[in-house]
Amino acid sequence: MAHTVLTLQHYKQQARKIVAVTAWDYLLAQILDRAGVDLILVGDSLGMVALGYETTLPVTLEEMIHHAKAVRRAVKDAFLVCDLPFLSYQVNPEAALANAGQILKATGVQAVKLEGGYPQLVLTVQRLVQAGIPVMGHLGLLPQAVHRLGGYRQQGKTPATAAEMLEQALALQEAGIFALLLEHIPATLARTITEKLTIPTIGIGAGHDCDGQIVVTADVLGLSEKWPPFVQPYANLRAQVSAAITAYAQAVRGNAPASPPHPL
Ligand code: KIV
Repeated sequence: MAHTVLTLQHYKQQARKIVAVTAWDYLLAQILDRAGVDLILVGDSLGMVALGYETTLPVTLEEMIHHAKAVRRAVKDAFLVCDLPFLSYQVNPEAALANAGQILKATGVQAVKLEGGYPQLVLTVQRLVQAGIPVMGHLGLLPQAVHRLGGYRQQGKTPATAAEMLEQALALQEAGIFALLLEHIPATLARTITEKLTIPTIGIGAGHDCDGQIVVTADVLGLSEKWPPFVQPYANLRAQVSAAITAYAQAVRGNAPASPPHPL
C-alpha cells in the first residue's frame, strides 16, 4: 500500500506503531521497502554512513538530491522523506522554500525534514506547508547543531529544557508539520510530547512510547564501525560481509574451494 501523510496520521489514531528507517541508495531502499516499512528517510546521516564525513554538516543539497533520486527509484510503498541539509533552510524562509521545492521537484520524495523549533524556523515551516510541502520536524539531539550542543548528548534533561522542547513541539504542530522526530531525549519527555500532540511522534533513543521508531539502517544492520549506544543492532552484517569477502578472496587466490553456483 502506498503511504501518504494521512496513512501516518491514521496509524497514530489506531495506536499502530510506525516503522521508519533511513536509506541512501537504490539497492538498500528496495530491500527496506519490500520488507514493509512505513516510512523511509533519506537522512543527512548518509554524509557519515555513505560519504565518510565526520558529521552531517558538510552534506550539500546536490548530494541529498543525488541519493534521494536513487532511493525514489526503489520505493513503491513507504512514505518517502528527505532531509534538508545544513544551511539549506536556516538562512531565510524564501531560500528554504526554494531548496525544499527543488528537492521535491528533482527527486519525487513526498516530504522534507528539518531540525529545530525556534520561532524563526517555525515561520519557515509555515511557509513551506502553505506552499504545499509536507514537513517533518526534528527535536531533541539535533546532529546539525552538534558543535553548539558540545557533542551527541541527550537533550531535554532539565525541567526548563524539557518545557522548552514541549513548547517547540506544539508550535511546530501549529505551523503544520505532519510528524515529529524525537532524538535522544528522556523517555518520560517523549511520552509527554507524544500524548500532547495530535500528529505522530517518531523516536530514536527516546523510549518506547513514541508513535513510531526510526533507526539509521547501517546501525540496526550492524554495518557501522560504531553506532549510538541507544541503538540495538538486529544483525552483524559488517562481520558477515567481511567473512564473505575473505572467503571469496581465498577462492579467487586458489587456496579455498569456490563457492557453489548461485541457485538462480
Ligand atoms: O539523518 C538521519 O538519519 C536522522 C536520524 C535521526 C534518523 O535524522
